[in-house]
Amino acid sequence: MRHLLGIEGWRRADIEALLDRAEAHLPGGSASSSVLQGRVVANVFFEDSTRTRTSFEMAAKTLGAEVLNWTAQGSSVSKGETLLDTVRNIEATGPVALIIRHRSSGAPHLVARHVRCAVINAGDGTHEHPSQALLDAFTLRRHWGRLDGRTVLIVGDILHSRVARSNILCLKALGARVVVCGPPTLIPVGIEQLGAEVALHLEPVLPQADAVMCLRLQTERQSESFFPSTREFSRLYGLNAARAGQMKAGALVMHPGPINRGIELAPAVADGARSVILEQVANGVAVRRAILEVCV
Ligand code: CP
Repeated sequence: MRHLLGIEGWRRADIEALLDRAEAHLPGGSASSSVLQGRVVANVFFEDSTRTRTSFEMAAKTLGAEVLNWTAQGSSVSKGETLLDTVRNIEATGPVALIIRHRSSGAPHLVARHVRCAVINAGDGTHEHPSQALLDAFTLRRHWGRLDGRTVLIVGDILHSRVARSNILCLKALGARVVVCGPPTLIPVGIEQLGAEVALHLEPVLPQADAVMCLRLQTERQSESFFPSTREFSRLYGLNAARAGQMKAGALVMHPGPINRGIELAPAVADGARSVILEQVANGVAVRRAILEVCV
């Protein structure tokens, strides 16, 4: 039984082994579809999700598991039950893995110290979203073969993004150059220590990118007087058709979802020829099947 709490600490060989395993979990691949037969996996989501929750559910079910879907809404959390009491009670019903999303950074790490089953981090606060980074790297690897020497530009709300943090760690480990771009108010202090370069203006770095990963502007975490406003952000950093035209031929457009259409990403670009956004989602099932196979 192993946990997946973050990309931090993973070596290149560990990541490549997981991504190699995920290849066998693609539709028509050689991986067994019954490794979790007779087991139960629990989705434990204290925060909302569309992609991550359904993808883990699909991954578990197509490996033969039953899936318990627990969400905080409608639960005894409203009566004051604690995180640890909640997860211990869910564990007592018999799952072999808890797939946890929580708004507090470090919540899955705390849970992992208090339960016997596997704990998989499905996104904790502004900290990490490791399965998202692995599926993003998997998507890029399927396009490029290797990531060495490639430039991935991550644009937008880096400050609040667990996706950015896990992706920087994962992409750097695989040999890519990572540039983060956004207004100074949305770039966390010390992000360079993870190996990312920082750009405050989009135009100079856009033509250098082999892939541009747009991130959702997390307006729910900002005050009304926050700079930039949604409109300013869109004008300065939004990937619209004109800016997409400045990208290299063959460069890819990514987004972890959910998209604020027309803010960080124009609909024509999100749905255009460069976009691999739905490939990311499809690949997520194979990657999460591999994660469950390794952890359980
Ligand atoms: N990418 C991602 O985490 O999406 P959800 O919030 O819908 O799970």
